[in-house]
Amino acid sequence: MLFMCHQMSMKKEAQEKLKAEELRKARAASDIPIIWILGGPGCGKGTQCAKIVEKYGFTHLSTGDLLRNEVESGSDKGRALQAVMASGGLVSNDEVLSLLNDAIGRARGGAKGFLIDGYPREKNQGIAFETRVAPADLALYFECSEDTMVKRIMARAAAAAVKRADDNEATIRSRLRTFAENTHAILEQYNDKTLTINAERDVDDIFLEVVQAIDCVLRNKQKAAALC
Ligand code: AP5
Repeated sequence: MLFMCHQMSMKKEAQEKLKAEELRKARAASDIPIIWILGGPGCGKGTQCAKIVEKYGFTHLSTGDLLRNEVESGSDKGRALQAVMASGGLVSNDEVLSLLNDAIGRARGGAKGFLIDGYPREKNQGIAFETRVAPADLALYFECSEDTMVKRIMARAAAAAVKRADDNEATIRSRLRTFAENTHAILEQYNDKTLTINAERDVDDIFLEVVQAIDCVLRNKQKAAALC
């Protein structure tokens, strides 16, 4: 019985490896950039993603939006997610990656590039993504002071017709703590592919730097494709 279990787990592991390898090959054969968008709550991730989508036509997948969609569906899973999000903590890695992977699968056909907004938020999320989905080409980290982030979220909340459940001062502080606890390890792990951008500036000034970075990725991908 023990031997059979061992054999089954080896078979499952081999199948998973094969699947990951197939995905990697499919990804290597394509020239679709994958860009992670990192930064604390309210630093401007969504704002910059909207501008990137407008200029490059990339597919924007925000983990926060995917989770909020699940909450809105009213499912049991959604209720459990809401409790975590309202506490300012992180939803389980498996849950987030599964939502993300499904969304990527749905969009893969016609996508020109993927913006993965709000991911990874924890070192293991990055590792899981690159193993199970594809390697990221670039991580854009929008660096911003806590004071600025709080002010921006409070202003957004004041102007919103429907306020986000986690846009209150207590939850914002908790979101900031979660961010501070995890970000250093991510930046250290992905130092070679991360561009840190000063997000204290005007939206358009920030975007100029974003464009330079994305153009560079696109040029490198074109060169790599020409060599294949
Ligand atoms: P998520 O929805 O990703 O929220 P967040 O990271 O807290 O970020 P926000 O959406 O609040 O802000 P933003 O950086 O997009 O800023 P925006 O552009 O809107 O995540 C919510 C929750 O989901 C998490 O707390 C967690 O529980 C869960 N979750 C999500 N991802 C997860 C993951 N990977 N793993 C586990 N759990 C996960 O800008 C904010 C405001 O500032 C706007 O009003 C905007 O107009 C303004 N603004 C933007 N840029 C500027 C600028 N340069 N100057 C002046 N104003 C600006």
